[in-house]
Amino acid sequence: MTNPFAVALSGADAATFQVPVLFVALPSGGALPPILANLDRSVGGSITGALKERDFRGARDEILFLSGGGSGPRRVALIGIGDASDALQSLRRASALAARTATKLGTGSLAFTGDTFAPDQIEAITTGLHAGAWEFLDTKTPPPESERKAPVTSATLLAPVTPDTQTAIANGNVIGRGMSLARTLGMTPGNICTPDFLAAAAREVATRHGMKYTELDRAGLTAEKMGSFLAVAQGTLQEPRLVTLEYNGASSGDAPVVLVGKGLCFDSGGISIKPAAGMEWMKFDMSGAGGVIGAMEAVGAMKLPINVVGVFGATTNMPSGTAMNPGDVVRSQLGKYIEIINTDAEGRLVLADLLSYVRRFKPAAVIDAATLTGACVIALGHSATGVFGVDQGLVDEVLGACSRSGERGWQLPLWDDYSDLMKSDVADVKNSSGRPGGASTAAAFLREFAGDYPWVHLDVAGTAYSESDLGHIPKGPTGVPVGTFVEFLRARCAR
Ligand code: BES
Ligand code: MN
Ligand code: ZN
Repeated sequence: MTNPFAVALSGADAATFQVPVLFVALPSGGALPPILANLDRSVGGSITGALKERDFRGARDEILFLSGGGSGPRRVALIGIGDASDALQSLRRASALAARTATKLGTGSLAFTGDTFAPDQIEAITTGLHAGAWEFLDTKTPPPESERKAPVTSATLLAPVTPDTQTAIANGNVIGRGMSLARTLGMTPGNICTPDFLAAAAREVATRHGMKYTELDRAGLTAEKMGSFLAVAQGTLQEPRLVTLEYNGASSGDAPVVLVGKGLCFDSGGISIKPAAGMEWMKFDMSGAGGVIGAMEAVGAMKLPINVVGVFGATTNMPSGTAMNPGDVVRSQLGKYIEIINTDAEGRLVLADLLSYVRRFKPAAVIDAATLTGACVIALGHSATGVFGVDQGLVDEVLGACSRSGERGWQLPLWDDYSDLMKSDVADVKNSSGRPGGASTAAAFLREFAGDYPWVHLDVAGTAYSESDLGHIPKGPTGVPVGTFVEFLRARCAR
């Protein structure tokens, strides 16, 4: 399950580059960059003309189509990057919108140019092009041949070819592919993207990049005494999966970074069933696991010099005659007893056992990602991932990774007050304390199960998918937190 889309680098002159559509990224109010002078001449000065007449102002998401020159691009489209205060993110957005626009036109390929881009900008544009070219067509009957549009399968970024820009393109392609993989897994309906399907996708990544793959089924989870994970899985006939991918890019003695993902292929809420309206969105409740798989794909392809373990727990949360009930008490692998107050607080039950399971890897750091709480969406909207941790050094490292990747993260508190709220009358801890501070109390619950390794929790409930069309990204999965994971790991390699 890999997307064939790829971005190539070319040092050709835009004026003579033959392509169905050339996108020219320009900031708001800017003058024409000198490298575009030839192109402008080849289209009869219509770029400078559009800027002068203010037909095109370079505002974010603005697009103006000009007709192409004789021997060069068939169409030229100016695309605005806005006031470029966040240059990388503006370029990611503009390039994604460009690729999505070409996809809607059915041009088959596109080229992208602008200023003399630096390597980090080239990488950002490349990931943006991947994001914009991503489509999910697996479960739709294609239109008749005569109406079929050519999917955009390639793009060319016009920029000087140097070792650094070549590396940037290669990295951008790999990260873009990891994000697209996560998005495809997220979009795939729950009846197709089952725990077994997720496991198979992870196994493919492992095989492709020579990683060690292991999986536990229900019997394996029982042998591991994972009463918390099993409590969620007991309501479904589908076989649960605990999948581990081990990537060794450094020497075997090096402590690994462990990425942990929540993989609920569907979350109905269980006996504490969710309202019907919008329940279909809960197929995205495996986005943490999808993020782990996408990040492992990128890490493996980049051959990062670091040891990384990716772990996820996949199951579905269903009401049934065998399902867990409110009031039940289960024993986690760690030995702590958990009172189930609300069966819809299932993600933390799965993560509890994963967080104790990963102690065996003696991690240098553990980052978990989960679509954990609606409360996090209420707090931050779809604008930022909730970042939680008590190791402020690691939290800051993760926040840095968020901002470099363009996947915004915002720290939310994890004070002891929240742990107090999670105390149970009959067990050591309960799985819900109601609505107040819901994102922080969920994190406080996880904290009970994290070992003495440095740990950060990412609540991606608001960021892993979008409920509206964002222009550059359609309604649906966004690829978060693949970028955050990859940026974190790369920075670890550099230090
Ligand atoms: N998967 C949901 C959280 C969620 C909600 C993700 C909305 C994305 C959008 C999670 O399992 C859940 O149901 N959480 C409950 C917890 C509550 C019962 C304590 C919630 O947020 O309502
Ligand atoms: Mn739930
Ligand atoms: Zn859930």
